[in-house]
Amino acid sequence: MEIKLPRTPLAHLPTPVTPLERLTQALGGARVFIKRDDLTGLAGGGNKTRKLEFLVADALAAGADTLVTVGAAQSNHCRQTAAAAASVGMRCILVLRGDPPAGCTGNILLDRLLGAELRFSGQRSREEVMDEIVASELKQGRNPYPIPLGGSNALGAVAFALAVEELLWQTDVRFDRIIFASSSGGTQAGLIAGAHLLGFHGQILGISVDEPLERLKEIVAPVARETIRLFGGSAAIGIAEVDASADYLGGGYGVLGAPEREAIRLFARNEGILLDPVYTGRAAAGMIDMIRRGVIGKDEVILFWHTGGTPALWAYADELLV
Ligand SMILES: Cc1ncc(COP(=O)(O)O)c(C=O)c1O
Repeated sequence: MEIKLPRTPLAHLPTPVTPLERLTQALGGARVFIKRDDLTGLAGGGNKTRKLEFLVADALAAGADTLVTVGAAQSNHCRQTAAAAASVGMRCILVLRGDPPAGCTGNILLDRLLGAELRFSGQRSREEVMDEIVASELKQGRNPYPIPLGGSNALGAVAFALAVEELLWQTDVRFDRIIFASSSGGTQAGLIAGAHLLGFHGQILGISVDEPLERLKEIVAPVARETIRLFGGSAAIGIAEVDASADYLGGGYGVLGAPEREAIRLFARNEGILLDPVYTGRAAAGMIDMIRRGVIGKDEVILFWHTGGTPALWAYADELLV
């Protein structure tokens, strides 16, 4: 697919696609493959590295000197943004939700090592704090570039439309479904856009890690439409065209429960692959449940898109080993 947008190389691509033979056997059906976006390579890897290739290029083109973005305390997006900023010689300011945590581990440790400035939003909205920072940076004669939550605008999502092309180019396996963790929606919007533009007919099934079903669909649909528009196409993608499940929200965002713990162990002990406690652990738990209940048929071929997040494992050490 052709797109005339600047792109800053940050990711090791293509990320591998491999069959999960032992996991497939352990689950007793549905052939499961994995796409390893945990191996995109930028200071711990993850899905946001793809989006940042376009967002950072846009920032550079705008003459920006500082990347500013928002996230949860253990945000993988923020950690990858800090690494991307460092790699192109920009400053990075991260607005993290809540108050500063007692310890310094997982992604927060990496944010600090990568030289990002951390601000905690306390009771205020992160976006409000980010707006203030941008205004204050401008006042000081700097040129900040704000990146929305998760890098989930159409420019970021372009990277995931291209990732569908990467997938179709690298394997002849015909997947019935692609399953992954969905939150701020950019990954899903990009995958939907790519599937539409390239005629991929498998299901693009996002497992919500935090948003209620309708809300997630409302977030994803317009970004998918806008992403298709950036490729010069157009499509009437509404919430009916967004496939998602919000059946696995458990105790809420970032709360590790028994299903996530089991999914993490199944992947680790059958495949030697690490999932993360917040996103991929939850998405994998959803996939496993759907396979066990027969919602996903035994003869189906599934691609589990690993979106990264493993640095957060360290922040959950005590809860993971109970
Ligand atoms: C590891 C991981 N997986 C999945 C997601 C969800 O991606 P998106 O925000 O594009 O929906 C995130 C986003 O924070 C993430 O860090």
